[in-house]
Amino acid sequence: MIGGCDAVALAQRFGTPLYVVDEARIRRACREYVQSFAQYYPKTRIIYAGKAFMNTAIVLLVMDEGLSIDVCSGGELHTALAAGCPGDEIFFHGNSKTPSEVELGLDAGVHRFVADSLDELRLIDAIARSRGQVANVMLRVTPGIEAHTHDYIRTGQIDSKFGIVIPNGDAMRAVAFAQNLSNVRLTGLHCHIGSQVFDVEPFVDAVSIMMDFAREARDQTGFVIEELNLGGGLGIAYNPSDEPISVQELAAAVGPALKGAAIRCGMPQPVLMLEPGRSIVGDAGTTLYTVNVVKHIEGVRTYVAVDGGMADNPRVALYQARYDAVLANKMNEPLGETVSIAGNCCESGDMLIWDITLPRVDVGDIVAVFCTGAYNFSMASNYNRHPRPAAVLVANGQAELIAKRETYADMCRLDVVPPRLLRACGHVAVGDNA
Ligand code: LLP
Repeated sequence: MIGGCDAVALAQRFGTPLYVVDEARIRRACREYVQSFAQYYPKTRIIYAGKAFMNTAIVLLVMDEGLSIDVCSGGELHTALAAGCPGDEIFFHGNSKTPSEVELGLDAGVHRFVADSLDELRLIDAIARSRGQVANVMLRVTPGIEAHTHDYIRTGQIDSKFGIVIPNGDAMRAVAFAQNLSNVRLTGLHCHIGSQVFDVEPFVDAVSIMMDFAREARDQTGFVIEELNLGGGLGIAYNPSDEPISVQELAAAVGPALKGAAIRCGMPQPVLMLEPGRSIVGDAGTTLYTVNVVKHIEGVRTYVAVDGGMADNPRVALYQARYDAVLANKMNEPLGETVSIAGNCCESGDMLIWDITLPRVDVGDIVAVFCTGAYNFSMASNYNRHPRPAAVLVANGQAELIAKRETYADMCRLDVVPPRLLRACGHVAVGDNA
């Protein structure tokens, strides 16, 4: 059962693969953030990192819980606006914004741009000036923290494509540069130390490094920090052995650390901002698949091939992520065999789970993979021309579609055939271009 709905009935009704999103879990996670930080640091703003699961209904849901939205591209900005999110609830990120994305952000009146480099500061300033506007901008810096997580999702260290480096003086020069721009108002500092982080220490260290930097910047440039954005990164339990810290523990560590740092640095307490993505939507998602093939290789292993894979969940292939699963239609049957769940893409690396013990698996069984709410829907592709799955929101025994399943026709929708190829093949029309 997910959100009061029978998973097997959902698979029958909506087809598989299917992303199932538990509304109550998302709401609970949002409230945990809002309430925990209200307790330890009332001047906190919680901003949902849309990249984790960007969809119109999800934006509305987190807005309903009082969260603002972090977007990192024109497409995410468009989605937030399409959901009715007011511009002043939107934070515009990204390390490589185009001029037209900056224009879109200014059109929308986004609350803050987060500039990642000197070039972005220049770009935002120039475009704002050409429109007679002043853009509110936060500067993303790299505090030099090495959070213990996968290399590809680690971002706080110095050798990173993100942010401006503090220890070598680049960040200080960037603050001074921003202070001198006429159409940029520098409101605060941003950092994001990494994702799927399991300890409070890197966050607490980030607070003190960022506040020390803010004090030096005040002394050297006159910049007054109004806002400190610590990014996202809180990890979740994908497997029973994972032991992430709770939001409450994060708040209890970060809130007092920031109060203490403000006193130590002789500065007013800045507004604290957090940008959780995974810890808002991650464990709210479950993906349902149908078993197509059970292939036993005697003395080696049993491959269970399902009707989805790296196209709907690239995280295993990309980050060696480990997931847990059950057979939704055999919840009361005893565990029997250890199998490996394979995806349906033409890649040996397209595996969803290596070595998991399940009840005896048969063709037609429904595999439910847990914790797929973050970076699955949003990172899905059409590799091998697999249509992207549908997503349903479940709550109180009701299921509602929030994203339609793509169709085969969608796979060819944007294809264009030059007429000379048609002529060469002797065709008048081909496929969906007919
Ligand atoms: N803020 C910024 C500036 C970010 O870059 C990110 C994530 C977040 C907030 C949200 O982080 P979270 O709370 O979700 O950890 N695709 C990878 C994760 C990439 C994270 C990118 N940035 C994965 O599937 O593990």
